[in-house]
Amino acid sequence: MKIILGPASTALAEKIAELTGYEKVPVACKTFSDGENYIRLKGNVQDEHVVIVQTTCAPQDSRLMQLAFMAATAKKSQARKVTAIVPYLAYARQDKIFLQGEGISVETVAQMLKAAGVDALVTVNIHAESTLSKFPFPAKNLSAIPLLAEYFVQKGCKKAFALAPDKGAMYIAEQAQSVLGGEAGHLEKQRDRYTGQTSQTGKGLTVKGKSVIIFDDIISTGGTIVGAAKILRELGAAHVHTACVHGLLVGDAEKRILDAGVEEIVGTDSVPSHVSKVTLAPLIAKALKARKGG
Ligand code: R5P
Repeated sequence: MKIILGPASTALAEKIAELTGYEKVPVACKTFSDGENYIRLKGNVQDEHVVIVQTTCAPQDSRLMQLAFMAATAKKSQARKVTAIVPYLAYARQDKIFLQGEGISVETVAQMLKAAGVDALVTVNIHAESTLSKFPFPAKNLSAIPLLAEYFVQKGCKKAFALAPDKGAMYIAEQAQSVLGGEAGHLEKQRDRYTGQTSQTGKGLTVKGKSVIIFDDIISTGGTIVGAAKILRELGAAHVHTACVHGLLVGDAEKRILDAGVEEIVGTDSVPSHVSKVTLAPLIAKALKARKGG
Protein backbone atom coordinates (compact mmCIF):
# COMPACT_ATOMS: atom_id res chain seq x y z
CA MET A 1 0.00 0.00 0.00
CA LYS A 2 1.20 3.52 -0.78
CA ILE A 3 -0.06 6.85 0.56
CA ILE A 4 -0.62 9.64 -1.94
CA LEU A 5 -0.12 12.99 -0.21
CA GLY A 6 -3.10 14.98 -1.46
CA PRO A 7 -2.38 18.72 -1.58
CA ALA A 8 -5.30 19.56 0.72
CA SER A 9 -4.10 17.17 3.46
CA THR A 10 -0.34 16.86 3.09
CA ALA A 11 0.48 17.16 6.80
CA LEU A 12 -2.20 14.63 7.80
CA ALA A 13 -1.10 12.21 5.06
CA GLU A 14 2.53 12.48 6.22
CA LYS A 15 1.46 11.57 9.76
CA ILE A 16 -0.58 8.60 8.52
CA ALA A 17 2.41 7.38 6.49
CA GLU A 18 4.62 7.69 9.55
CA LEU A 19 2.20 5.71 11.75
CA THR A 20 1.56 2.97 9.19
CA GLY A 21 5.05 2.78 7.68
CA TYR A 22 3.50 2.83 4.18
CA GLU A 23 5.54 4.49 1.43
CA LYS A 24 4.61 8.07 0.52
CA VAL A 25 3.87 9.32 -2.98
CA PRO A 26 4.31 13.12 -3.11
CA VAL A 27 2.15 15.15 -5.46
CA ALA A 28 3.18 18.16 -7.52
CA CYS A 29 0.28 20.52 -7.94
CA LYS A 30 -0.34 23.99 -9.26
CA THR A 31 -3.21 26.21 -10.27
CA PHE A 32 -3.06 27.80 -13.70
CA SER A 33 -3.80 31.50 -14.07
CA ASP A 34 -7.33 30.73 -15.27
CA GLY A 35 -8.00 28.74 -12.07
CA GLU A 36 -7.63 25.22 -13.48
CA ASN A 37 -5.80 22.60 -11.39
CA TYR A 38 -2.81 20.48 -12.38
CA ILE A 39 -1.46 17.48 -10.48
CA ARG A 40 1.38 15.02 -11.06
CA LEU A 41 2.14 11.92 -8.96
CA LYS A 42 5.81 11.83 -8.07
CA GLY A 43 6.17 8.09 -7.52
CA ASN A 44 5.48 4.70 -9.04
CA VAL A 45 2.05 3.26 -8.21
CA GLN A 46 1.94 0.37 -10.68
CA ASP A 47 0.21 -2.72 -9.18
CA GLU A 48 -0.18 -0.92 -5.84
CA HIS A 49 -3.20 -0.34 -3.65
CA VAL A 50 -2.95 3.42 -3.25
CA VAL A 51 -4.61 5.52 -0.58
CA ILE A 52 -5.19 9.15 -1.52
CA VAL A 53 -5.54 11.44 1.50
CA GLN A 54 -7.40 14.56 0.44
CA THR A 55 -9.94 16.53 2.41
CA THR A 56 -12.52 18.56 0.49
CA CYS A 57 -13.22 21.62 2.61
CA ALA A 58 -13.15 25.02 0.87
CA PRO A 59 -12.34 25.49 -1.95
CA GLN A 60 -14.44 22.33 -2.24
CA ASP A 61 -14.85 22.10 -6.00
CA SER A 62 -11.16 22.61 -6.65
CA ARG A 63 -10.21 19.97 -4.09
CA LEU A 64 -12.73 17.54 -5.49
CA MET A 65 -11.22 18.02 -8.94
CA GLN A 66 -7.71 17.45 -7.55
CA LEU A 67 -8.96 14.25 -5.90
CA ALA A 68 -10.54 13.08 -9.15
CA PHE A 69 -7.34 13.88 -11.05
CA MET A 70 -5.20 11.97 -8.54
CA ALA A 71 -7.49 8.92 -8.71
CA ALA A 72 -7.61 8.96 -12.51
CA THR A 73 -3.85 9.43 -12.75
CA ALA A 74 -3.21 6.56 -10.33
CA LYS A 75 -5.45 4.28 -12.39
CA LYS A 76 -3.80 5.39 -15.64
CA SER A 77 -0.46 4.59 -14.00
CA GLN A 78 -1.84 1.08 -13.35
CA ALA A 79 -2.57 1.26 -9.65
CA ARG A 80 -4.42 -1.92 -8.67
CA LYS A 81 -6.86 -0.23 -6.30
CA VAL A 82 -7.59 3.36 -5.31
CA THR A 83 -8.98 4.19 -1.87
CA ALA A 84 -9.88 7.82 -1.20
CA ILE A 85 -9.51 9.01 2.39
CA VAL A 86 -11.65 12.13 2.48
CA PRO A 87 -11.87 13.35 6.09
CA TYR A 88 -14.34 16.14 5.28
CA LEU A 89 -16.58 15.07 2.45
CA ALA A 90 -17.97 18.13 0.70
CA TYR A 91 -21.68 18.29 -0.09
CA ALA A 92 -22.50 15.62 2.51
CA ARG A 93 -25.21 17.82 4.02
CA GLN A 94 -27.23 17.75 0.79
CA ASP A 95 -27.92 14.06 1.32
CA LYS A 96 -31.62 14.05 0.51
CA ILE A 97 -34.21 15.98 -1.41
CA PHE A 98 -35.56 18.51 1.06
CA LEU A 99 -37.46 20.66 -1.46
CA GLN A 100 -38.90 19.73 -4.82
CA GLY A 101 -36.42 20.31 -7.62
CA GLU A 102 -33.31 19.68 -5.53
CA GLY A 103 -30.80 16.93 -6.18
CA ILE A 104 -28.71 14.75 -3.86
CA SER A 105 -25.38 16.50 -4.31
CA VAL A 106 -23.31 14.04 -2.27
CA GLU A 107 -24.44 11.15 -4.48
CA THR A 108 -23.32 13.08 -7.56
CA VAL A 109 -19.94 13.63 -5.92
CA ALA A 110 -19.60 9.89 -5.24
CA GLN A 111 -20.57 9.01 -8.82
CA MET A 112 -18.02 11.51 -10.11
CA LEU A 113 -15.29 9.97 -7.95
CA LYS A 114 -16.24 6.48 -9.10
CA ALA A 115 -15.99 7.59 -12.74
CA ALA A 116 -12.54 9.02 -12.00
CA GLY A 117 -11.26 5.71 -10.63
CA VAL A 118 -12.00 5.64 -6.90
CA ASP A 119 -12.73 2.05 -5.74
CA ALA A 120 -13.42 2.69 -2.05
CA LEU A 121 -13.81 5.66 0.26
CA VAL A 122 -13.18 6.36 3.93
CA THR A 123 -14.54 9.51 5.54
CA VAL A 124 -14.85 10.87 9.07
CA ASN A 125 -18.09 11.82 10.84
CA ILE A 126 -20.12 12.23 7.70
CA HIS A 127 -23.28 14.19 8.45
CA ALA A 128 -25.52 11.09 8.04
CA GLU A 129 -23.88 7.69 7.85
CA SER A 130 -26.83 6.24 5.90
CA THR A 131 -25.67 8.34 2.92
CA LEU A 132 -22.77 5.95 2.36
CA SER A 133 -24.98 2.95 1.62
CA LYS A 134 -26.02 4.61 -1.65
CA PHE A 135 -22.45 5.18 -2.87
CA PRO A 136 -21.30 3.21 -5.94
CA PHE A 137 -18.32 1.72 -4.03
CA PRO A 138 -17.66 0.48 -0.49
CA ALA A 139 -17.56 3.48 1.85
CA LYS A 140 -16.71 3.60 5.53
CA ASN A 141 -17.29 6.24 8.18
CA LEU A 142 -14.95 6.74 11.16
CA SER A 143 -15.72 8.77 14.27
CA ALA A 144 -13.26 11.26 15.71
CA ILE A 145 -15.49 12.14 18.66
CA PRO A 146 -13.61 9.87 21.14
CA LEU A 147 -10.34 11.59 20.15
CA LEU A 148 -11.89 15.02 20.72
CA ALA A 149 -13.26 13.93 24.11
CA GLU A 150 -9.83 12.53 25.02
CA TYR A 151 -8.34 15.97 24.31
CA PHE A 152 -10.59 17.43 27.01
CA VAL A 153 -9.79 14.61 29.45
CA GLN A 154 -6.11 15.44 29.00
CA LYS A 155 -6.95 19.09 29.77
CA GLY A 156 -8.57 18.09 33.06
CA CYS A 157 -12.22 18.31 31.88
CA LYS A 158 -13.10 14.75 32.88
CA LYS A 159 -16.79 14.38 33.82
CA ALA A 160 -17.78 17.44 31.77
CA PHE A 161 -21.34 17.44 30.42
CA ALA A 162 -21.36 16.38 26.74
CA LEU A 163 -24.01 18.34 24.86
CA ALA A 164 -25.35 17.74 21.35
CA PRO A 165 -26.88 20.80 19.65
CA ASP A 166 -29.83 18.73 18.40
CA LYS A 167 -31.45 15.35 18.94
CA GLY A 168 -29.95 13.91 15.74
CA ALA A 169 -26.46 14.52 17.14
CA MET A 170 -27.18 12.79 20.46
CA TYR A 171 -25.12 9.77 19.36
CA ILE A 172 -22.13 12.18 19.15
CA ALA A 173 -22.71 13.36 22.73
CA GLU A 174 -23.00 9.73 23.85
CA GLN A 175 -19.67 8.83 22.20
CA ALA A 176 -18.06 11.76 24.01
CA GLN A 177 -19.75 10.82 27.27
CA SER A 178 -18.26 7.32 27.11
CA VAL A 179 -14.78 8.92 27.23
CA LEU A 180 -15.56 11.84 29.57
CA GLY A 181 -17.55 9.74 32.03
CA GLY A 182 -20.04 12.52 32.86
CA GLU A 183 -23.57 13.31 31.73
CA ALA A 184 -24.90 13.86 28.20
CA GLY A 185 -27.88 15.62 26.71
CA HIS A 186 -29.14 17.55 23.73
CA LEU A 187 -30.88 20.74 22.73
CA GLU A 188 -33.85 20.87 20.38
CA LYS A 189 -33.13 22.55 17.03
CA GLN A 190 -35.49 23.47 14.19
CA ARG A 191 -34.36 24.66 10.75
CA ASP A 192 -36.42 26.64 8.21
CA ARG A 193 -35.68 24.86 4.92
CA TYR A 194 -36.22 28.03 2.86
CA THR A 195 -34.23 30.57 4.89
CA GLY A 196 -31.81 28.16 6.61
CA GLN A 197 -32.56 29.94 9.93
CA THR A 198 -32.43 27.73 13.01
CA SER A 199 -33.93 28.04 16.48
CA GLN A 200 -32.93 26.08 19.58
CA THR A 201 -34.37 25.36 23.03
CA GLY A 202 -32.85 23.77 26.12
CA LYS A 203 -35.99 22.25 27.65
CA GLY A 204 -35.28 19.78 30.44
CA LEU A 205 -31.50 20.39 30.58
CA THR A 206 -29.86 20.72 34.01
CA VAL A 207 -26.43 22.30 33.55
CA LYS A 208 -26.34 24.91 36.33
CA GLY A 209 -22.78 25.25 37.65
CA LYS A 210 -21.48 22.54 35.31
CA SER A 211 -18.72 22.46 32.69
CA VAL A 212 -20.31 21.76 29.34
CA ILE A 213 -18.68 20.77 26.04
CA ILE A 214 -20.85 21.19 22.95
CA PHE A 215 -19.92 18.48 20.42
CA ASP A 216 -20.93 18.71 16.77
CA ASP A 217 -19.83 17.18 13.48
CA ILE A 218 -19.45 20.55 11.74
CA ILE A 219 -19.11 24.16 12.78
CA SER A 220 -19.84 26.26 9.72
CA THR A 221 -21.25 29.74 10.34
CA GLY A 222 -21.13 29.12 14.08
CA GLY A 223 -24.84 29.92 14.43
CA THR A 224 -25.63 26.57 16.06
CA ILE A 225 -22.88 26.91 18.68
CA VAL A 226 -23.64 30.60 19.37
CA GLY A 227 -27.31 29.69 19.94
CA ALA A 228 -26.38 26.75 22.15
CA ALA A 229 -23.92 28.84 24.20
CA LYS A 230 -26.61 31.47 24.79
CA ILE A 231 -29.00 28.84 26.14
CA LEU A 232 -26.27 27.33 28.33
CA ARG A 233 -25.50 30.75 29.78
CA GLU A 234 -29.20 31.30 30.53
CA LEU A 235 -29.29 27.90 32.23
CA GLY A 236 -26.30 28.83 34.42
CA ALA A 237 -23.53 26.61 32.99
CA ALA A 238 -20.19 27.44 34.65
CA HIS A 239 -17.91 26.78 31.65
CA VAL A 240 -18.68 26.21 27.97
CA HIS A 241 -16.26 24.69 25.45
CA THR A 242 -16.96 23.37 21.98
CA ALA A 243 -15.49 20.62 19.84
CA CYS A 244 -16.19 19.64 16.28
CA VAL A 245 -14.68 17.26 13.75
CA HIS A 246 -14.89 19.66 10.83
CA GLY A 247 -14.19 23.27 11.83
CA LEU A 248 -15.17 25.12 8.67
CA LEU A 249 -15.48 28.38 10.67
CA VAL A 250 -16.87 30.45 7.84
CA GLY A 251 -16.42 34.25 8.02
CA ASP A 252 -16.34 35.56 11.60
CA ALA A 253 -17.70 32.30 13.09
CA GLU A 254 -14.79 31.95 15.50
CA LYS A 255 -15.18 35.48 16.87
CA ARG A 256 -18.93 35.08 17.26
CA ILE A 257 -18.49 31.81 19.16
CA LEU A 258 -15.86 33.26 21.50
CA ASP A 259 -17.95 36.43 21.97
CA ALA A 260 -20.84 34.16 22.99
CA GLY A 261 -18.77 33.03 25.97
CA VAL A 262 -17.31 29.78 24.64
CA GLU A 263 -13.87 29.36 26.22
CA GLU A 264 -12.25 27.19 23.55
CA ILE A 265 -12.97 25.82 20.09
CA VAL A 266 -11.35 22.49 19.27
CA GLY A 267 -11.34 20.92 15.81
CA THR A 268 -9.40 18.26 13.93
CA ASP A 269 -7.04 18.36 10.96
CA SER A 270 -9.93 17.31 8.75
CA VAL A 271 -10.06 21.06 8.13
CA PRO A 272 -6.55 22.36 8.79
CA SER A 273 -6.52 25.60 10.81
CA HIS A 274 -5.32 26.98 14.14
CA VAL A 275 -8.22 25.21 15.90
CA SER A 276 -7.11 21.79 14.55
CA LYS A 277 -5.77 20.68 17.91
CA VAL A 278 -6.58 17.00 17.38
CA THR A 279 -5.12 14.93 14.57
CA LEU A 280 -7.09 12.22 12.78
CA ALA A 281 -3.88 10.34 11.91
CA PRO A 282 -4.12 7.58 14.56
CA LEU A 283 -7.78 6.95 13.74
CA ILE A 284 -7.13 6.64 10.01
CA ALA A 285 -3.88 4.69 10.42
CA LYS A 286 -5.68 2.17 12.64
CA ALA A 287 -8.46 1.75 10.06
CA LEU A 288 -5.92 1.20 7.27
CA LYS A 289 -3.97 -1.33 9.34
CA ALA A 290 -7.18 -3.18 10.22
CA ARG A 291 -8.39 -3.49 6.63
CA LYS A 292 -8.88 -6.99 5.24
CA GLY A 293 -7.68 -8.05 1.78
CA GLY A 294 -6.09 -6.02 -1.06
C1 R5P B 1 -26.15 20.37 11.11
O1 R5P B 1 -27.09 19.64 11.35
C2 R5P B 1 -24.75 20.12 11.56
O2 R5P B 1 -24.65 19.02 12.42
C3 R5P B 1 -24.18 21.34 12.23
O3 R5P B 1 -24.86 21.58 13.45
C4 R5P B 1 -24.31 22.53 11.34
O4 R5P B 1 -23.84 22.23 10.07
C5 R5P B 1 -23.55 23.70 11.93
O5 R5P B 1 -23.73 24.80 11.08
P1 R5P B 1 -23.58 26.28 11.60
O6 R5P B 1 -22.24 26.37 12.26
O7 R5P B 1 -23.68 27.11 10.36
O8 R5P B 1 -24.69 26.52 12.55
